[in-house]
Amino acid sequence: MRKMTQANLEAAFAGESQAHMKYLIFADQAEQEGYPEVARLFRAISFAEQVHATNHLRELGGIGDTVASLETAIRGENHENTEMYPAFNAVAELQEEKGAMRSIRYALEAEKIHEAMYGEAKQMVAVDSDIKSAPVFICPICGHTVIGEAPDKCPICGAKKEKFRQF
Ligand SMILES: [Fe+2]
Ligand SMILES: [Fe+2]
Repeated sequence: MRKMTQANLEAAFAGESQAHMKYLIFADQAEQEGYPEVARLFRAISFAEQVHATNHLRELGGIGDTVASLETAIRGENHENTEMYPAFNAVAELQEEKGAMRSIRYALEAEKIHEAMYGEAKQMVAVDSDIKSAPVFICPICGHTVIGEAPDKCPICGAKKEKFRQF
């Protein structure tokens, strides 16, 4: 692919990805404010943005098999928890940005776990095996991630067991 087209598709992928995420978040907000039909519109269009992002990523050659996907995920999570978030946290501390420090800490703690989980999954898929069947629980406050059973209390943010969302 020619360089400028590649750069354009990369920018388009980033933009569509952000729109997808924002629309999902806005849908939850609209729901809470009592506008379920606006929430529906946000969720539907967020899916259209996912379709666009998928097409751009495919054209960029960014979609491989599951081992390749897990390797990409491991690299991303590792970058976030060893370089990006520690550096961001240092700046937030320096600037006494309390809210940013909390959102960065929540993400940093979860990304470490995500990297480990993806690493274990990669070992299984590398020998043609799926990971063992178990529910995955996510803390809706901080994103803490647990396979199997939700803890009584989130060890990162203190949220109660019932709050965890099951996948
Ligand atoms: Fe993560
Ligand atoms: Fe939590």
